Amino acid sequence: MAKKKARIAVLISGGGSNLQAILDAAANGSLSHGEVVLVVSSRDSAYGLERARLAGIPTAVIRSRDFASTADFDNALSKVIDDHQADLIVLAGYMSILSEGFVKRYPQRIVNIHPSLIPAFSGEGFYGLRVHEAALSAGVKVSGATVHYVNEVCDGGEILEQQTVRVFPDDSPQDLQQRVLTQVEHVIYPRVIEQLAKEIVGNSHDS
Ligand code: GRF
Repeated sequence: MAKKKARIAVLISGGGSNLQAILDAAANGSLSHGEVVLVVSSRDSAYGLERARLAGIPTAVIRSRDFASTADFDNALSKVIDDHQADLIVLAGYMSILSEGFVKRYPQRIVNIHPSLIPAFSGEGFYGLRVHEAALSAGVKVSGATVHYVNEVCDGGEILEQQTVRVFPDDSPQDLQQRVLTQVEHVIYPRVIEQLAKEIVGNSHDS
């Protein structure tokens, strides 16, 4: 018998507005083939942890600096994910770069959202406002966001979805960040996750 819902672990580091969009989609039924079963944060002060608690989702804080080696950190992160039997790992503002060893454990099971049109303004060093500052410096007239699989190359995995927004002449980096977040990220991420969850459920023969 096929599984009813794909089990989703969301990894965060900060405000968690993308996590909220995913939780809202699950609550309003537009994410019907997946359920968030775990939220892991790399920071204990992340507001996203509060969002998870309010939604009744189990949380964990796993910080790389608490581990003696990358392998120990990878094992701790894998353990909590595997203990919750997650089928899909969703990075939503997760600020740690996952090791090659870790991502190879979950081929095509980890996704990320990046606030630019990859390959523009992506890769190491392009995070937070820096992405939007770079877009404005380059003078681009459109920007947007990209959902992609995570592999061993930073922002280098297969592109699953992209959507654009206009860039206006007087935009500040903060203006562009907000437009990309609210008009693109919060819209496309739950949609792609629903599609992936549907595929996972469809391919599953678990009881
Ligand atoms: C988003 O812009 C996302 O694309 C990037 O980090 C930001 C996280 O925002 N990877 P939030 O924590 O989901 O509000």
